Amino acid sequence: MISQNVITVDGPAASGKTSMSRELAKNLGWQWVSTGAFYRGLAYIVEQEGVDITSEAAIVETCEQVSWSIEMASDRTKCHYKGADVTDQIYLEEIGTVASKISAFPKVRQALLQAQRDCLNHVRGLVAEGRDCGTVVFPKAPLKVYLTARSESRAERRVQEQGGEVSQVLEAQRARDDQDSQRKAAPLEVPAGALVIDTSAMSLEEVVSKVETKARELFSQMVSRD
Ligand code: DC
Repeated sequence: MISQNVITVDGPAASGKTSMSRELAKNLGWQWVSTGAFYRGLAYIVEQEGVDITSEAAIVETCEQVSWSIEMASDRTKCHYKGADVTDQIYLEEIGTVASKISAFPKVRQALLQAQRDCLNHVRGLVAEGRDCGTVVFPKAPLKVYLTARSESRAERRVQEQGGEVSQVLEAQRARDDQDSQRKAAPLEVPAGALVIDTSAMSLEEVVSKVETKARELFSQMVSRD
């Protein structure tokens, strides 16, 4: 008996999580959320508010006092801050770096956790991507996926999407991966029982198809048939 209609997709930066989980959700007729948007949204707001990013208490206070929200959508998880749509701003690489820094604080993670779990309320099913979706946010998820890829392939992928120099992107990603996997609170790790896929030499279609086949076996009653 399946207890939760949720699939988690974790992995390092530019491992293909977003493209894969978004496409998978579409094919299954489920919702999709990038949990990184919560960290990115808060990172952006903290910067806008001029908050000291080394102060865990000040970041948590900002998270709770300022008016902001995250909204699920099929193409990009959105962020609103004081009534304005700031989605474009939160996906900039420099905000990713700040997001990675503030995500190391346990109380910051705690402050964002319930809102991430609430994404599963009132939806037919959810594909949740991030760093700790299978280990912390949805530890009971019936299907957990962990995507990985050679760092060179990941840097090339990001450059194709956003431009820039491969060597610089490679360096920034390495720093972020080290930070995300070495932190004490909910580090990036392979969840127990996860389906691990190295996407370096695979097309998006191949990765989606592999996970979708598994998902359709497990959640046969709860997924779209077309
Ligand atoms: O997936 P992303 O690149 O949008 O995530 C930005 C940062 O947010 C990432 O470097 C670490 C943090 N993050 C996290 O700590 N836990 C998550 N579940 C998702 C993201």
